[in-house]
Amino acid sequence: MNTPKHIAFIMDGNGRWARARGMPRLKGHEAGAETVKRVLSLAGSYGIPIVSLYAFSVENWSRPSLEVRGLMSLLGRFLEREADELFDKGIRLRVMGRREDLPAALDKALAKTEERTAGFSGRQLVLCLSYGGRTEIAAAARSLARDVASGLVDPEKIDESLFASRLYLPDLPDPDLIVRTSGERRLSNFLLWQCAYSELYSTPVAWPDFGEDDFRAALEDFASRQRRFGGLEPAAQA
Ligand code: IPE
Ligand code: IPE
Ligand code: MG
Repeated sequence: MNTPKHIAFIMDGNGRWARARGMPRLKGHEAGAETVKRVLSLAGSYGIPIVSLYAFSVENWSRPSLEVRGLMSLLGRFLEREADELFDKGIRLRVMGRREDLPAALDKALAKTEERTAGFSGRQLVLCLSYGGRTEIAAAARSLARDVASGLVDPEKIDESLFASRLYLPDLPDPDLIVRTSGERRLSNFLLWQCAYSELYSTPVAWPDFGEDDFRAALEDFASRQRRFGGLEPAAQA
């Protein structure tokens, strides 16, 4: 089966999952953290080297402070529990987003695990935190504009690859497949530059319920697609 090299998840539906069970939204986020472990282990068994997770958007700061604080604390606890496991499995942790927005202790814990796993070149887990696609693109433009203003960059030399070199993780390949759980069919500001030719997949299953069969269904759907990147399918080339 043709599997993606980079799969990205918009982990959606935790709140609805919890509310449907008469529980507070945070219980849904806690259940969602278990799905993260499951998905990482499945990605390993399918031989998918890069997994990106949209865990908190720049827009998510507008949620009630109780939920925001609960999510930040859950992230910290998750990292505490899972950092050794990432290390043992040889998974490199990387964070992308406005990390200056994150609570200092969380940022520090993330940086520690990033440093500890920086030497791994096989598998990667990319956590998108306080992430916004437009924010990322604006930051890249600002960085280039600074270099133009100081004479370091000739504006005529700005092309796609120079621009992409100013994104948060310039060496990260574009996601081959973006999966969104819980039925919504939108990107919600996720990887706007990188999604140019990503395959999109939406499932009605809520993130806490996303399991092995759902993962396999997404991969089978991906394998059945024909990616042309604007060209022609091989049979039509002649
Ligand atoms: C996704 O679940 C997790 C985050 C956005 C942090 P939601 O919290 O968006 O859950 P729903 O969409 O309200 O059900
Ligand atoms: C997208 O989900 C962000 C994350 C999964 C972190 P949201 O629940 O915030 O998106 P909308 O509000 O449905 O577009
Ligand atoms: Mg949501």
